[in-house]
Amino acid sequence: MSSGADGGGGAAVAARSDKGSPGEDGFVPSALGTREHWDAVYERELQTFREYGDTGEIWFGEESMNRLIRWMQKHKIPLDASVLDIGTGNGVFLVELAKFGFSNITGIDYSPSAIQLSGSIIEKEGLSNIKLKVEDFLNLSTQLSGFHICIDKGTFDAISLNPDNAIEKRKQYVKSLSRVLKVKGFFSNNVM
Ligand SMILES: C[S@@+](CC[C@H](N)C(=O)[O-])C[C@H]1O[C@@H](n2cnc3c(N)ncnc32)[C@H](O)[C@@H]1O
Repeated sequence: MSSGADGGGGAAVAARSDKGSPGEDGFVPSALGTREHWDAVYERELQTFREYGDTGEIWFGEESMNRLIRWMQKHKIPLDASVLDIGTGNGVFLVELAKFGFSNITGIDYSPSAIQLSGSIIEKEGLSNIKLKVEDFLNLSTQLSGFHICIDKGTFDAISLNPDNAIEKRKQYVKSLSRVLKVKGFFSNNVM
């Protein structure tokens, strides 16, 4: 299991972008903002997991997960609170939440390979009460709603790098967030 080297902040994904110049919003459009990119990443990571059992990259590092869990503890978030991980990737954060005792957790990602990978990792960990779904957060197909906690580690960043009208996509992100998050719910973006 490797960990993201960035250590924090929304600039982390942007820093990986290697071409083009910033748009008016300061982001450099990049393949990192496209579904094709993430499909290819998770197809590769799924293969690696099957061959070697490596769960792949943890964006922003393991400490970012611990920090959020400590925050949830400090604020006495009940273990049965509904939690949504937006763009869950390999789902390792879901595993950590479940091991801590959270019992109502859902991960979504628009990459089917990411959901397959997170499902395989969750199964290997022997955890059964985690919901997973292939969903484009910008075009939600089902009535996902009423979450107490929404977590995003790296997904808004990725969306912000989309070469095709990222500004609109960020607005849509906010709309989707307001749909899935309960009134007075909590939203955590990347590291706190
Ligand atoms: C930087 S990775 C972070 C993955 C994971 N949250 C983590 O911390 O390891 C960004 C993730 O967002 C997902 N993603 C990007 N745009 C998305 C969208 N519109 N809907 C759902 N998932 C999306 C990608 O497939 C990828 O898994």
